[in-house]
Amino acid sequence: MLVDQLLPRDLFRNKTVFVTGGGSGINLGVAKNFAALGAHVAICGRTQEKLDAAAVELRAVAAAAGAGARVCAVAADVRDAAALEAAFARSEAELGPMDVLVSGAAGNFLAPAEKLSPNGFKTVIDIDLIGSFNASRGAFAQLQRTRGCLIYISAGMAYMPHAFQAHVGAAKAGIDMLMKNLAIEWGRWGVRANSIVPGPIEGTEGMKRLSDPAQKDRFLDAVPLRRMGTVDDIGQTAVFLASPLASYVTGCVVVCDGGQNLVGSALFNMGAEQMLRAQAKV
Ligand code: COA
Repeated sequence: MLVDQLLPRDLFRNKTVFVTGGGSGINLGVAKNFAALGAHVAICGRTQEKLDAAAVELRAVAAAAGAGARVCAVAADVRDAAALEAAFARSEAELGPMDVLVSGAAGNFLAPAEKLSPNGFKTVIDIDLIGSFNASRGAFAQLQRTRGCLIYISAGMAYMPHAFQAHVGAAKAGIDMLMKNLAIEWGRWGVRANSIVPGPIEGTEGMKRLSDPAQKDRFLDAVPLRRMGTVDDIGQTAVFLASPLASYVTGCVVVCDGGQNLVGSALFNMGAEQMLRAQAKV
């Protein structure tokens, strides 16, 4: 269910939301939920064709919302600060100054730490953590003017160790601390910063890379709410954080995972080891 069925359809009319990594998965789901409430939406990612396809979906959601929202899809790798700044400038020219930055671009794969190359570790740090810094820094001038907010897509690996995820745990823990630092520093301009920790989200690239579909039922038996999350679950959490309902909420890590964190990472760890064993990688 898109969030427009729960909240006023024009909640974000004349607001602009920029989503990094917005071409697919959770990030596209987040972008759609803002579009459903009237926001102008910009997305960036590495592949223009993928972004163009996502923009078609976003325009359909925006048209259904009937608020005259516009969509901008611009290729930029978050590792390239200059490309990101150019994307932000184009978004501002087409959609107006940014009110919300969603920093979602990420890379992930299972890898035993002792076999992960230094460049493999660095690549995930570069995309997730340095990419989030580049995006935050590049967006700052616009967010300062709008008294806007930052939303980071973190992960349970940030605070709970998961096997074969040393690179991701380090990157996401860094993102959550970056978020808290910026909540302190930029609060004096009314800029808020928060992160969302998604649980297992149906149909995403992350699930494909990190879990074995054959073990899904066993895994779900251990999730307190007994279901997979949806991209709309994360979209609705992002909408809350960006909305006036959260105007005094900053520096928080908001966990949206059906309670999965309460039962720990053991099932994930066993499943991941089985997957890697089947590929003769452990
Ligand atoms: N296991 C171990 N190492 C791996 C790996 C894997 N599955 N995939 C990539 N690497 C290593 C590479 O070997 C390389 O290191 P090397 O130069 O020492 O060999 C390094 O990571 C960079 O790989 P490369 O493919 O050049 O990086 P890229 O920038 O093109 O792609 C990734 C980035 C690796 C994160 C890629 O998986 C990606 O594009 N992911 C985006 C989508 C995604 O991960 N979504 C899920 C989000 S939860």
